[in-house]
Amino acid sequence: MSQVNNEKATNEMPKPDNQIGHVVAVMSGKGGVGKSSITGLLATSLAKEGYKVGVMDADITGPSIPKLFGVKEKPEMSPAGPLPPKTVTGINVMSFNLLLPNEDDPVIWRGPLIGGAIKQFWEDIYWGELDYLVVDLPPGTGDAPLTVLQSVPLDGIIIVTSPQDLANMVVRKAVKMANKMNINIIGLVENMSYLECPDCGKKINVFGPDKAIEETEKMGYPVLAKLPLDQGFAEACDRGEIEKYKGDIVEKFAPVTKEVLATVK
Ligand SMILES: Nc1ncnc2c1ncn2[C@@H]1O[C@H](COP(=O)(O)OP(=O)(O)O)[C@@H](O)[C@H]1O
Ligand SMILES: [Mg+2]
Repeated sequence: MSQVNNEKATNEMPKPDNQIGHVVAVMSGKGGVGKSSITGLLATSLAKEGYKVGVMDADITGPSIPKLFGVKEKPEMSPAGPLPPKTVTGINVMSFNLLLPNEDDPVIWRGPLIGGAIKQFWEDIYWGELDYLVVDLPPGTGDAPLTVLQSVPLDGIIIVTSPQDLANMVVRKAVKMANKMNINIIGLVENMSYLECPDCGKKINVFGPDKAIEETEKMGYPVLAKLPLDQGFAEACDRGEIEKYKGDIVEKFAPVTKEVLATVK
């Protein structure tokens, strides 16, 4: 698998076609459940398996992908389109945040503009050749995720939830939305499922029991992983070092990558 070579995009070059093998999106019923973190874990693990990976941060108003990967550089412009900067392990990352003058500038836009930006992202970015593009969707089941589901040819989605999220049935809304749009649901990931006491190893269900996920399972979608609350992981993400993190959560995430590779090929 050759690396995507940014140097190829010179002025002489005609606009090349992106060659993207598969597109997998990460969705959630609501924000704050770890959708971006799961996007980061999936991209990292696919890259470790030797695949050429890109991450498209489609969460225009709440972008956090560059921070997770510690990417700060602005995309270089080329006739072929903006070039996604690369992370330390060679993942191609594109986020609207990288195009803003300051990373903490807010994007104060209404729906149609956001939809337009997402479409342009999909059409204009020069990804080159990728095996997998992982898309961090905007949270929820509103306008912005709908735009992505409609305009990007997805091979499948992973739905992320947390125990307290499930209580509100929002995850089932997400499942129904994907179903209505005939999008292949690869499976669910329950994040922040429990906390393991570092002293005695006891599992504490911080957000209560996970009864509701069983109901979602009854809808016919497998729960691929139940991930613990992991302080070290949160800290690594804050430092922009998600790719370096080697804690338990990485191992617990492995079945998700396995299922993606098994079903989207
Ligand atoms: N399993 C976890 N253990 C500890 N912290 C987590 C875990 N998953 C996510 N976080 C933290 O929770 C916050 C929200 O996660 P994020 O991935 O940004 O959510 P979303 O994209 O759904 O809004 C972040 O600070 C992240 O580092
Ligand atoms: Mg996010």
